[in-house]
Amino acid sequence: LNYRVPRTRRDIFQTLIKGLQRLEYRGYDSAGVAVDGSGKDHAASISLYKKTGKVKALDEEIYKNNAIDFEAELDTHFGIAHTRWATHGEPSPVNSHPHRSDKNNEFVVIHNGIITNYKELRKYLVSKGYEFESETDTEVIPKLIKYLYDNRENEYVSFSTLVERVIKQLEGAFALVFKSIHFPGEAVATRRGSPLLIGVRCQYELSTEQIPVQYNCGDSRTNEQEKNLLNRRGSTNALHSVHDRLAVEFYLASDASAIIEHTNKVIYLEDDDVAVVMEGKLYVHRIKRKAGEDPVRVIQTLQMELQQIMKGNFKAFMQKEIFEQPESVVNTMRGRICFDSNTVILGGLSDHLKEIKRCRRLILIGCGTSYHAGVATRQILEELTELPVMVELASDFLDRITPVFRDDVCFFISQSGETADTLMALRYCKQRGALTVGVTNTVGSSICRETDCGVHINAGPEVGVASTKAYTSQFVSLIMFALMMSEDRLSMQQRRLEIINGLKKLPELIKEVLALDDQIKSIADELYHQRSLLVMGRGYNYATCLEGALKIKEITYMHSEGIMAGELKHGPLALIDKHMPVIMIIMRDACYKKCHNALQQITARQGRPIILCCQDDPEISKMAYKTIELPQTVDCLQGILSVIPLQLISFHLAVLRGYDVDYPRNLAKSVTVE
Ligand code: G6P
Repeated sequence: LNYRVPRTRRDIFQTLIKGLQRLEYRGYDSAGVAVDGSGKDHAASISLYKKTGKVKALDEEIYKNNAIDFEAELDTHFGIAHTRWATHGEPSPVNSHPHRSDKNNEFVVIHNGIITNYKELRKYLVSKGYEFESETDTEVIPKLIKYLYDNRENEYVSFSTLVERVIKQLEGAFALVFKSIHFPGEAVATRRGSPLLIGVRCQYELSTEQIPVQYNCGDSRTNEQEKNLLNRRGSTNALHSVHDRLAVEFYLASDASAIIEHTNKVIYLEDDDVAVVMEGKLYVHRIKRKAGEDPVRVIQTLQMELQQIMKGNFKAFMQKEIFEQPESVVNTMRGRICFDSNTVILGGLSDHLKEIKRCRRLILIGCGTSYHAGVATRQILEELTELPVMVELASDFLDRITPVFRDDVCFFISQSGETADTLMALRYCKQRGALTVGVTNTVGSSICRETDCGVHINAGPEVGVASTKAYTSQFVSLIMFALMMSEDRLSMQQRRLEIINGLKKLPELIKEVLALDDQIKSIADELYHQRSLLVMGRGYNYATCLEGALKIKEITYMHSEGIMAGELKHGPLALIDKHMPVIMIIMRDACYKKCHNALQQITARQGRPIILCCQDDPEISKMAYKTIELPQTVDCLQGILSVIPLQLISFHLAVLRGYDVDYPRNLAKSVTVE
């Protein structure tokens, strides 16, 4: 919303569309935008544009429209836009957001999340004569607000009060932004369970770093009380005791990457906060104050820079992110490992370290790639902490109603910090009194905020849906945790030293692996027409098999399976013949001999595997169809190097097969629904 900063209608569209494009990685089957209508009294109507496909298609659609006066200058304007990843109802213009209350677009809404009681609400509203046009859960929201507005009788009701009344009726998860022709130029936003932040851009230095939260008197307030509240808002409680001509712009978004090019000053809203932007001022309020609640929302400064989220010279974000790994692992370790004293300090855990050391069990919980980071580090965690370590897929962990105790320490591993399954598991463990630790890449994310303590993996923004650098940084973070836990164990000093030295050399070794890109591309040239690709290994490299197979599935749409080599003779061997493409990982570690046996079982069935092995291993090379030779590091770190060829192979396979590497079909970067 622009206050006293004249912008053309074109600028407004461009800001919204650009913001959506930055969010495309969160879901991208359709997109939509709502702005004030054209014409003299532009705020008296709302124009909606929606389109299936990528945001670019929506952009083209808007510019096709000759009726829009793109050059019209507007002083104050509030527009909303949304990119959808279908949960209820197929991708189609009518199912995409913004959703509307009626054909006149009196109220329009965008929503991230799921409304679980939408069926009941829909039934009720239908009984009141409201006609629904989509199959979505979201559509009940604009209908409900219109219902409340139409039935306000003679009461004065502000936009924010209406929104408060709406969210009282909603169950599920949501971040919502509302726009209405009845409240021109005003924006109301709220959240529960889904992320929402407000970027603040001001021509002058902000005179305050925090915004006080207001508490309303509840629904029983009279017209007089309501008006008084509005008057009070006009003074000290606003974000800025605004200089009348001060130019302020507010950007509401579910992710900082949508707004970072405009401002790095952001406020993260809490569950049930209702934020109103009106006449260039921002107000945050809640229905009632709860005990212990923080009465201010602080304006934070984000460190993320736009160029960090741009593709640079790479073909795809995923490729860029693979090649960033020598730096991203350094960023993960920076300021945390002292290579002179061989100490590791994870600042976010220090206050809880004593408690963690007293625990009876560690549980690592995540989904997809983040789960694999847990599988990859389990063995070294068990070795260095001497604690039992469980690694759990968040969804299955909840399905099993797994017993959790007060003396458990539960780790929630998540790149985005927003994955719904992981977040639910976190709440489940918290309820049972366990200590909760977040391992995320997103400062201010829900998992960060809801855990007792945590580690930021500091890998930098990851845009490609297929996670790469976040995996290696999660891996390094968990290794650092194991090192921190074993610092005072005399018997483990030798092992710790070996690992710390390995971490020091890691960036150089990653560069050596990345230098194999041409060779890996030539292997992809031979494989890209295949339908299936098996990846086999064991011990420290089993996680690499799972993660490699996931990368291949995600972006090449080939069937791929990560197979535990120890299980080969218990089933998978039946798949092997001279046609089945197999990648094996055989590194020089405690499992070397056993892997060798598996290799023999495969060659005996005329399988001709491509083998990831250590440099100078003639015996393995003899039996391989092809080898990819990797530098050797400490056994528990080898998985960081062995996963990179598989990241690269999946990237090349996807390009050769003609697929969009960064935006694979049916998948979203951050799955904020269960
Ligand atoms: C989605 C993504 C995966 C990711 C998983 C967990 O399924 O497509 O690439 O590994 O979520 O995401 P998180 O943000 O929790 O690490």
